[in-house]
Amino acid sequence: MEVYSTNLGRSDPSIREGASGDNVQFWDEQARLLHWFTPWKETLRWNPPFARWFVGGTTNISYNALDIHQDDIADKPAIIWEGEDGTSQTVSYGTLYLQVQKTANLLKSLGVRKGDRVTIYLPMIPEIIVSMMACARLGAVHTVVFSGFSAKSLADRMNDSGSTVLITADVGYRRGRIIPLAQTAQEALKSSLKIRHTIMVQRQDGIPSTWVPWTEINNKSDKCAAEPVESTDPLFILYTSGTTGRPKGVLHGTGGYMTHIHSTFRWAFDIQDTDIYHCTADVGWVTGHSYVAYAPFLCGATEVMYEGAPDHPNPSRTWQILEKHKVSIFYTTPTALRMLMRHNAMAAKSYNLSSLRLLGSVGEPINPEVWVWYHDVIGDGRCPVIDTWWQTETGGMLISALPGLESIPLKPGSGTLPIPGIDMAVLDENGKTAPPDTKGYLVVRNPWPGMMLTLWGDEQKYRDTYWSRFPDYYYPGDYAIQDKDGYMWLLGRADDILKVSGHRIGTAELESCLVSHKKVAESAVIGVPDEIRGEGIVVFVVLRSGMDGMGMESELEKIIVSQIGTVARPDAIHIVPILPKTRSGKIMRRLLKSLVTGKQIGDLTTMEEPGALDEVRRILQDCGCDESW
Ligand code: PRX
Repeated sequence: MEVYSTNLGRSDPSIREGASGDNVQFWDEQARLLHWFTPWKETLRWNPPFARWFVGGTTNISYNALDIHQDDIADKPAIIWEGEDGTSQTVSYGTLYLQVQKTANLLKSLGVRKGDRVTIYLPMIPEIIVSMMACARLGAVHTVVFSGFSAKSLADRMNDSGSTVLITADVGYRRGRIIPLAQTAQEALKSSLKIRHTIMVQRQDGIPSTWVPWTEINNKSDKCAAEPVESTDPLFILYTSGTTGRPKGVLHGTGGYMTHIHSTFRWAFDIQDTDIYHCTADVGWVTGHSYVAYAPFLCGATEVMYEGAPDHPNPSRTWQILEKHKVSIFYTTPTALRMLMRHNAMAAKSYNLSSLRLLGSVGEPINPEVWVWYHDVIGDGRCPVIDTWWQTETGGMLISALPGLESIPLKPGSGTLPIPGIDMAVLDENGKTAPPDTKGYLVVRNPWPGMMLTLWGDEQKYRDTYWSRFPDYYYPGDYAIQDKDGYMWLLGRADDILKVSGHRIGTAELESCLVSHKKVAESAVIGVPDEIRGEGIVVFVVLRSGMDGMGMESELEKIIVSQIGTVARPDAIHIVPILPKTRSGKIMRRLLKSLVTGKQIGDLTTMEEPGALDEVRRILQDCGCDESW
């Protein structure tokens, strides 16, 4: 296999060496690079499985992202925003600072105090970052809900987090369409338990009379000192899909999280004063939290933020953005890359992408062919490609090449090495270290600063989900292989979570949504390989006896879109008379997957009613869906 170079010539072996000894001391030193109002008393309080970093220290992430830059880079662009229609707007560090303070004062005037929760339901506009930082400035906990989620998802998240204020916009714009956010928010507010005020960013005409216009921030003082928060005080809740019916609220703290993203952003992206960084992640997901809303500003970087689809109005839009803004560091997903490559693998060659110097990928396994294309065509063979592995729960990257720190050979398709200070392994079924080059379960063996605090309101679920499969180790739920050089090859989820276009979708969440339809008795949801999106969603349902299946497919699609959101829209829905089950009554999803993907069916000895499979096969054949995916 061809091996590529990191190419930037950076070499600071002291960091990796420092981390290989006492990793707690190592992180202690990294945290000192940030501003603290008062020093911590204890670097790590490890009360397994709960890690608390920099205990007793007080700080504020908004202070570290804004106040510290005002003397030297107040005029530097912080955000270069581009809308889908091509309009752009530049927000300097100085302006961002004032906007955040005014917004914090508006929130204060609406009664928001330290520890209160604020839900943010906004599109990719600078106000989403301003809102998050304004919450952080007060010590309030933000919970951002991706703007593609439905009214029910929004209401569930507002209620579960106990939010008292909602920040939304009238509309978003994507793929030439208007996304009616305020309408969805209004619907969600009907079942909201605690929201007292809604602030709305107005982009068109009209606002519900009881809502507070965003422009109200201009009537507020632009001075609002950052509240000193204890390092382990919560910064945000971000809901993510798990293996049960309800999304989990991943709770992150302040000091550890900030240290982790600050370190990894510098090491991975080699960020320099002149860089223009562009990450395509929506702020509604964790990549958008860590590496769009916070880390770039902790490092005084300039970022390009784009509201719209990467292929709108034409599939070269991404290349136009990179050329127009002279982007030097580009961070995106394998799904976006596969889509752009498939459309026209050489389209980027018509653009001047000579400003690029580093490329990154995140969110799903990247196939080696796409990696090589990214490197050779987009990066013109000059730019290192980093494949960064991490999760909502980990806060920041845990596996990645770090061109800003060290030169190591890159292998297309591998995330390379765990970052310094992180001890990871691949285990077999029995919890023993898997031999090199053998597929097993990825684990983390020591606590790290970006580690989640817990699951909001459910400590037991936190223990059960991440710390019970392999006691003493954090289990992320992924398969991996570690090769003889210690390189990690990430192979996707080992549980019932799908990754569709990089979005995390729990099959259990979809199934519980399907059975909420009055005609549905049972359902099974599986993921099937999809060339572009990584995985596609296939749904099987059994109707209650005597129920008519006419028009059910579109009804079921509607219920998924209205209860979860468009991200979970299935690719196929099959009404079947029976589902294959074990004798103990468990649905055998692996058999359904084998049927759909044309794989060998395998062992059927535990099956309750072998005829069930023939019934499903017949239905798949009738619709031409068997073995043809
Ligand atoms: O399966 C892994 C996959 O995404 C999961 C985490 O999803 P989420 O919490 O939405 O965060 C995504 C963005 C950090 C992981 O359990 N994943 C993430 N990065 C990679 C990956 N799979 C393979 N390679 C990656 N680089």
